[in-house]
Amino acid sequence: MSELINKFNDFKASMEKGQLIGIDIGLSAIKIAILEDSKKGQFKLLKYRSIPLSEASIIEDEIQKPEEIIEAISETMKLFKEKKKIVCLGLDGPNTVTKRIQVPDGVDEEVEDNILWESEQYIPFGADDAEIGFSIIGRIEEDDIVDSIVGAAKSSVIQKYIGYIAEAGLYVKTVDLNCFALVNVFENYLGDRFYEVSDSGAIIIDFGAQYTSIIVYKNAGPVLTKEVNIGGVLVTEEIQRSMGVSYEEAEDLKVFGDDNGNLPEELMSIIEIHNDKLMDELRKILNFYIAAGSSEQASYCFVTGGSSKLPGVLEGVSKLVDLDVEEIDPLETIEVKGKFSEEEIESIRTCGIVALGLGMRKI
Ligand SMILES: Nc1ncnc2c1ncn2[C@@H]1O[C@H](COP(=O)(O)OP(=O)(O)OP(=O)(O)O)[C@@H](O)[C@H]1O
Ligand SMILES: [Mg+2]
Repeated sequence: MSELINKFNDFKASMEKGQLIGIDIGLSAIKIAILEDSKKGQFKLLKYRSIPLSEASIIEDEIQKPEEIIEAISETMKLFKEKKKIVCLGLDGPNTVTKRIQVPDGVDEEVEDNILWESEQYIPFGADDAEIGFSIIGRIEEDDIVDSIVGAAKSSVIQKYIGYIAEAGLYVKTVDLNCFALVNVFENYLGDRFYEVSDSGAIIIDFGAQYTSIIVYKNAGPVLTKEVNIGGVLVTEEIQRSMGVSYEEAEDLKVFGDDNGNLPEELMSIIEIHNDKLMDELRKILNFYIAAGSSEQASYCFVTGGSSKLPGVLEGVSKLVDLDVEEIDPLETIEVKGKFSEEEIESIRTCGIVALGLGMRKI
């Protein structure tokens, strides 16, 4: 009987339509966001929760403790008293790739075939094991060209994640890339400034726990997306090692400081070394986009992510790109309708952008 009920629930979920539940499985936490879209394209945040993950729950993109993740999601759904079951799941890391592709204009099927054919060569894990999606950014009329952005993720990884989400009682309708979700919120956040920023080019950096993700945005879409394997967790691990404390204690020390709220000298030097290493990597990737006089030079720089709060990061980036650095506040254009504590609001502002972008999707 329960088997039958499960099947029925699955069927119901597979037919369900509407706004999707955004789920971002980050290294430090799972973030879940439920939004509502008014007719005027104004999004409202109804529900949000960030559930911290324990040490080493994800290693090199492999989920090591699936039970912890499944439990966190199903518990959140109970807490939310949420009936909706359909999900937009975000992925990132080496199992994903994006590429801006331009093909000759033509009839729709031809354009689609061309984009897919062209994109295959850019998939490092092979097109045979990839789910590929694209969206048309626009048409360059004078050259008869269609400008598009392609995203791909490894099928076997997608299947694994879909399985975990199913075990939590939910149904993945759409898989998106975290960088696209971020861009969704970013475009929304720009509002009236969109054309100016889009024409001049912007560097966007998401300072996470596992990754630092870089997006160069120009002419209404990303022209470069890249992840560096350096993030805030490295600082946490170094604090653990050098100060002989647990992962949780090290996180606490890093984020809140000692009993007086100060960061000990030892910690400051760990952070400094980390920042220098990270800035060196960012310089290599962004070289082309920050070189004065380069035709690709970007004029704006935006940041987000929990590790952007590490002392010295904003200053380091500003010096590197030689631009003012602006922190994206996704809640400037997404109205908060649900009830949240001040602390939660702050966490949504800095760490929630990807989950919000995933939750902006509907089918
Ligand atoms: N105030 C703060 N000062 C320093 N670091 C912070 C602060 N707040 C959060 N962090 C760090 O930010 C990281 C979490 O940020 P975020 O939620 O953006 O990452 P994530 O999405 O879990 O990681 P990833 O995207 O790499 O998988 C953690 O490493 C955390 O220690
Ligand atoms: Mg993240």
